[in-house]
Amino acid sequence: MKAAVLREINKPLEIENIQHGDPGPREVLVRTAAAGVCHSDLHFQNGSYPYPLPAVLGHESAGIVEAVGKDVTYVKPGDHVITCLSAFCGHCEHCLTGHMSLCQEPELQRPMDQPPRLAKDGESIWQFLNLSSFAEYMLVHEHAIAKIREDMPMAQAALIGCGVTTGVGAVIHTAKVEPGSTVAVIGCGGVGLSAINGAAIAGAARIIAVDMVPSKLELARKFGATDVVNAKSGDPVEAVRELTGGGVHYSFEAIGLKITAEQAFKMLRRGGTATIIGMIPVGTNIELHGPEFLMERKLQGSNMGSNRFRVDMPRFVEFYLQGRLHLDDLISRKIKLEDVNEGLAALETGEVARSVIMFD
Ligand SMILES: NC(=O)c1ccc[n+]([C@@H]2O[C@H](COP(=O)([O-])OP(=O)(O)OC[C@H]3O[C@@H](n4cnc5c(N)ncnc54)[C@H](O)[C@@H]3O)[C@@H](O)[C@H]2O)c1
Ligand SMILES: [Zn+2]
Ligand SMILES: [Zn+2]
Repeated sequence: MKAAVLREINKPLEIENIQHGDPGPREVLVRTAAAGVCHSDLHFQNGSYPYPLPAVLGHESAGIVEAVGKDVTYVKPGDHVITCLSAFCGHCEHCLTGHMSLCQEPELQRPMDQPPRLAKDGESIWQFLNLSSFAEYMLVHEHAIAKIREDMPMAQAALIGCGVTTGVGAVIHTAKVEPGSTVAVIGCGGVGLSAINGAAIAGAARIIAVDMVPSKLELARKFGATDVVNAKSGDPVEAVRELTGGGVHYSFEAIGLKITAEQAFKMLRRGGTATIIGMIPVGTNIELHGPEFLMERKLQGSNMGSNRFRVDMPRFVEFYLQGRLHLDDLISRKIKLEDVNEGLAALETGEVARSVIMFD
């Protein structure tokens, strides 16, 4: 099958012919239909998050089940699925207390003494985040997929695989935004726009979008932003404080920078909560003024929107089909696997919401 392989950090992905294994007892082979290009792929390509190489990147996808292992009962060939990198074991403390996105049980990968899921003529290729979506097929654990309605279009479904689950989930699961509250979202990419959309669904009274690209701020209004702040035209902390008379109840950082993480905290009102979604590079520390904590300001992280994806993803599909999740506007362009490097480069400029790779 064709796949986009990262062999060296900071080098383009190479389109190569590689092989996938046959499904083990609890594995599912999925024919990839669509895969979004998320900024997290770029963080791994450029080495700000180290990963063993060679690897096939990609982790935001939807497809059709091609074959299942002998113990799989959840899906059958022909079923439509969205993948999720938050594969869950179902029996560890995190899973059993409802924090499945924190599960890291090794049993979800193949043991080292077995043939790898991906290989090229005998050379092992690492599977990226349990998925490796930039490939014509994905061989995954059955706990890395959610079954969905067949009338859900695949490009939009793919976006639910990471960006939407992450952004909406950060709002409704991690932060638990209440109706009537005030929200600021810094960064209006696929994740930030989804957080804005999630805040609208949650009933936030005021949703302030912050970005540096004017077209992104315009787009943010479509997702439910009531106010927009261009961070290039002044201090976004001041702007948000002024708009809200002292700061927001909830802020979200959806970029992955030290400065914007600090801004997210500083734009809180007393008692407010900042949620960091962005992947801040390994080795980067963020600095806060200690006395701020006396006023019960809180800072927290969010992993994949604290999801329970087999419950969440079919719900997000319903929201889309009802017109409440604006996934059509999230798709800036559809591209081919061969254009994956352009899809990654487009993330550097902030001009696109999402590029989606379509497989035929
Ligand atoms: N926590 C998780 O589980 C999780 C999951 C998915 C993605 N992420 C991370 O979320 C972040 C966002 O991902 P994405 O795919 O939406 O990225 P993206 O590149 O599509 O969007 C980033 C946006 O931020 C804007 N921006 C850049 N610098 C800015 C600044 N200084 N001030 C204001 N706006 C600025 C850009 O114009 C762009 O619109 C990334 O760090 C990604 O790795 C985290
Ligand atoms: Zn992602
Ligand atoms: Zn677990």
